[in-house]
Amino acid sequence: MRIDKFISEQKGISRSDTKAMIKRAEITVNGTVVKAADLKIDPQRDVVAVGGKPITYRKFMYIMLNKPDGVVCATRDGLSSTVLELLPEEFRRKGLFPAGRLDKDTEGFVFITDDGELAHKMLSPKNHVEKEYVVTLEAPAEEKYIDIFAAGMIIDGDEKCLPAQLILTDEPYVVRLILHEGKYHQVKRMMEAVGNRVTHLRRVRMGGIELDNTLASGESREITQDELSHLLDKQM
Ligand code: URA
Repeated sequence: MRIDKFISEQKGISRSDTKAMIKRAEITVNGTVVKAADLKIDPQRDVVAVGGKPITYRKFMYIMLNKPDGVVCATRDGLSSTVLELLPEEFRRKGLFPAGRLDKDTEGFVFITDDGELAHKMLSPKNHVEKEYVVTLEAPAEEKYIDIFAAGMIIDGDEKCLPAQLILTDEPYVVRLILHEGKYHQVKRMMEAVGNRVTHLRRVRMGGIELDNTLASGESREITQDELSHLLDKQM
């Protein structure tokens, strides 16, 4: 692979910015300053450094973000800030997108990647990857919800939901809900279908990966290889 392509992909910067860095002698390969933008490197073996800092080669990036309220799950938005804008500079690169959206007012786990194939697998209802939410309600939860959700409810007249697992908690207004699909406003619409209303929503798990509770709101970190191997686990 050409060094300029490698740097621009790994750092999420343009080829012309990469060329300017080469001109400023900021890039080294195995300790030797790069002089030509078309130098060929082996991303798996060569040690490439920018400003003395080695770059760890990643074919794809997998990031866990603890989304705050008020931020949209999109790659671009004219009015509001997006989840991508919250990422620190070292995580930014071309092609990243949130795999599975949360509403603007929903908080918690957003999975951000540039691996389209994995995102597709994770989101396909066929794969039944669990998404777990902590839901705060306007009125106390009722025991009967458990069976209604487990049966697979119909929302808005004709939309059939897959069976979902509702777990009551010690707090009457708080339930945990595990879904296997991701319809538009699904949790809110399911709660409305039983005559209740969501006042706060937080996603805490996707597949076998739990939201890291050391991440403050708006913070992100890379998902480890070990965590990633559990993403498509069917059940926790
Ligand atoms: N269900 C919703 O209603 N909103 C979300 O953001 C996620 C699931």
